Amino acid sequence: MPVKMSSSVLVAGLCLMALTQAANNHLDQHNLVYRSPYLNQDSLALDTHAIVKRHEEGHSILRKRQAQQVAPTGTPDNYITAGYGLGVVDWADASYIFGGNLNFTHSVASGDPYDYSVLLWTRALPVEQAAVDVPVCVTYKVFDGLGGSGNVVASGYAFTSYDVDFTVKVEATGLKASTYYSYQFANCAKPDQKSAIGRTKTAPAKYGTNLDTQKFAVYSCSNCPNGFFNAYGGPVQNQDVDYVLHLGDYIYEYGTGGAPINRTNWDGKELASLQDYRLRYNQYRTDPDLSASHSNFPWINIWDDHETANNDWKAGSQNSNNSYPAGCSYGNQTGICFSERAANAKRAYHEWIPIRQVNVSDEQRIWRDFRFGDLIDLVALDTRKYDRDITDLTPTIPNLQSVSDLAVQLNSSRSMTGPIQEKWMLDTIDDSLARGTTWRMILNQVIFGTINHTSTTPNPTPTSFSINYDAWDGYQAQRQRILQHAHDKEWNNTYIVTGDTHASWLLENNLHTVLEGTKMANTTLGPNPVDTAYKRGQLVEFGGTAVSSNGWGNTWLNEKNATSRAATGLVQNSGSLFWSEGFYRGYMAVEVSYSKINTTFYGYPDNQVKRTQNRMTLAQFTVPAGQNQVQRPFKVQAGAVKPGN
Ligand SMILES: *[C@@H]1O[C@H](CO)[C@@H](O)[C@H](O)[C@H]1NC(C)=O
Ligand SMILES: *[C@@H]1O[C@H](CO)[C@@H](O)[C@H](O)[C@H]1NC(C)=O
Ligand SMILES: *[C@@H]1O[C@H](CO)[C@@H](O)[C@H](O)[C@H]1NC(C)=O
Ligand SMILES: *[C@@H]1O[C@H](CO)[C@@H](O)[C@H](O)[C@H]1NC(C)=O
Ligand SMILES: *[C@@H]1O[C@H](CO)[C@@H](O)[C@H](O)[C@H]1NC(C)=O
Ligand SMILES: *[C@@H]1O[C@H](CO)[C@@H](O)[C@H](O)[C@H]1NC(C)=O
Ligand SMILES: *[C@@H]1O[C@H](CO)[C@@H](O)[C@H](O)[C@H]1NC(C)=O
Ligand SMILES: *[C@@H]1O[C@H](CO)[C@@H](O)[C@H](O)[C@H]1NC(C)=O
Ligand SMILES: *[C@@H]1O[C@H](CO)[C@@H](O)[C@H](O)[C@H]1NC(C)=O
Ligand SMILES: *[C@@H]1O[C@H](CO)[C@@H](O)[C@H](O)[C@H]1NC(C)=O
Ligand SMILES: *[C@@H]1O[C@H](CO)[C@@H](O)[C@H](O)[C@H]1NC(C)=O
Ligand SMILES: [Fe+2]
Repeated sequence: MPVKMSSSVLVAGLCLMALTQAANNHLDQHNLVYRSPYLNQDSLALDTHAIVKRHEEGHSILRKRQAQQVAPTGTPDNYITAGYGLGVVDWADASYIFGGNLNFTHSVASGDPYDYSVLLWTRALPVEQAAVDVPVCVTYKVFDGLGGSGNVVASGYAFTSYDVDFTVKVEATGLKASTYYSYQFANCAKPDQKSAIGRTKTAPAKYGTNLDTQKFAVYSCSNCPNGFFNAYGGPVQNQDVDYVLHLGDYIYEYGTGGAPINRTNWDGKELASLQDYRLRYNQYRTDPDLSASHSNFPWINIWDDHETANNDWKAGSQNSNNSYPAGCSYGNQTGICFSERAANAKRAYHEWIPIRQVNVSDEQRIWRDFRFGDLIDLVALDTRKYDRDITDLTPTIPNLQSVSDLAVQLNSSRSMTGPIQEKWMLDTIDDSLARGTTWRMILNQVIFGTINHTSTTPNPTPTSFSINYDAWDGYQAQRQRILQHAHDKEWNNTYIVTGDTHASWLLENNLHTVLEGTKMANTTLGPNPVDTAYKRGQLVEFGGTAVSSNGWGNTWLNEKNATSRAATGLVQNSGSLFWSEGFYRGYMAVEVSYSKINTTFYGYPDNQVKRTQNRMTLAQFTVPAGQNQVQRPFKVQAGAVKPGN
């Protein structure tokens, strides 16, 4: 068997093995990280045959390589018997399994809950050696009681190795819907060495009815050097949500910058290599509030640009593109061009984030949906990396003029999602409505509605930042297609949650408010305070502020200025914008029941000062079912409301 195989041979080999070997003995069968995200892509596929072969060849010297030789105690029936995928390794021969001490360095996490399964994550780092040439083996157990109590209802094992940064991602199956579980990993060779105990919750039954209120925390834009992750601690402290959604910018790729609070990047490098991206996730996940959120709640993640690089699109970013001479160097690193950089970024993401690959034949796909009974469907988009046409790249690659011209052409084929994902999104929402599911929440990276940002600048000039062509304002034809479809098909109870902007927003988007694109600046638009009439095809949008990233609010020094000058101008100059607040960092909590959704915006005033749970309510909005608009009058404690609402 050749050591180096082409990816097609690898895939054929895996298929053959699936037929000829016990189905549950594959390297990548248990630890999903080995097949995420690119089983077929040459530059990123992990050649699992070669990894196995490396371990085989190492047999004679394994005893030297291993720091310790400790036989596993017992051989439970559900453990491996002829493991590692090829039937060449006997569990009883402990030399094939790392027998030393394991450090579960980053606690545990869970994600992508279904009604029968959830992904569990950990990292198992050998203590004695940074890299060992034998597989590390961990077991996992899922308990029906909290804190590791109750019965074990699911269990198994998985291997990991330096090939995947010692990360472990398994799917625990056979679970009951809408149920809390606890879970824990342990060292196969030394079962007393255990990870922290995590808690998770499955989704409600796919065909469930009469569901309880479902509660989600919604985050975006967590820049570690910029501030503390207090917002992640809110639901842990208050135990008032069930699921966590992250809309992207979970890490930032920059080398330097931030607030003077000693949260600087470990490596000080702009990210480009696989090791760079891994180390950044490693650092972020040492944050106690982020770690606690992961070990308390199942997360659903989608990425935005900074998981790779600022303002990326399918073939480049603000500072990188394969054919731009400067686009193959980042900071002091050279020789990695955009495609390779993006692939590195995506692989590290799949290693560190408990996300499912819903179609292994569509390797770049993270867009996916989750069905929570007949109450709500979550429709999670990738408007960034999957198939996005060129975005606003100024000032590094000077294309602003052409993109702004393209952005407003309502006859353009420019797309945020690409045609395949666009069709999937429209079909998924149409199907959801046809099934009679009450609500649909679209998880979206960048603002969907139209915002005129001119007033965020203290003394604007004609060249001041005004329209964000990196958001849907840069892709107005596609936005209009979606709103036309929503209007024609009478989409109801369909709303958008959005990140990216480091500020809080409420928009009500319909065909009328965006038909003129960014030319619309009608301050009198919007429903009368007592108008509860149904708004056909209107999509309410909640834009959430950043966990910690700076935004326009920071330039105004205090809340009063940020509201009286910037936010007031924003709601006056943007037809579909009804509330705006820019000073605070925090998150949104969305509570969904059959009769209404409540969205609460929280802020953390001290987030650039200290780690604290001083949470304040910025605003709370209710959307009654059947109206496609927020109930008036609004209840806001901070920020500016469009007059008359
Ligand atoms: C385990 O990992 C943590 C986090 O990196 C570290 O602080 C600790 O010292 C490690 N323990 C051992 C025994 O290596
Ligand atoms: C940051 O670290 C330096 C050196 O340890 C210390 O003097 C300073 O007080 C710290 N600053 C903050 C905000 O913690
Ligand atoms: C690149 O920058 C990093 C961080 O400043 C530094 O540690 C490293 O030595 C630099 N490498 C080169 C080749 O200059
Ligand atoms: C890369 O950037 C250059 C400079 O702006 C541009 O001319 C070229 O079209 C870009 N190519 C790609 C593939 O993005
Ligand atoms: C999975 O992706 C492949 C490749 O893009 C595509 O041909 C196939 O239709 C997809 N399957 C599903 C169920 O969407
Ligand atoms: C699209 O619209 C722009 C103006 O918005 C116009 O210049 C261009 O010719 C149109 N293209 C087509 C194919 O109709
Ligand atoms: C949306 O609600 C309107 C008003 O109640 C109703 O006429 C329409 O049929 C609904 N649309 C769908 C797709 O159910
Ligand atoms: C944005 O608002 C400013 C007023 O602050 C106005 O001068 C400008 O024309 C508006 N831009 C657009 C594109 O509507
Ligand atoms: C603004 O919108 C209102 C309500 O739809 C409409 O009556 C008015 O004519 C619009 N004004 C402008 C300048 O478009
Ligand atoms: C903000 O308000 C303070 C106090 O009212 C004022 O002195 C300052 O100039 C304002 N800053 C900006 C940027 O407007
Ligand atoms: C929604 O908010 C209102 C007050 O704004 C409150 O009375 C109601 O209980 C909340 N409903 C849910 C389901 O959270
Ligand atoms: Fe961001």
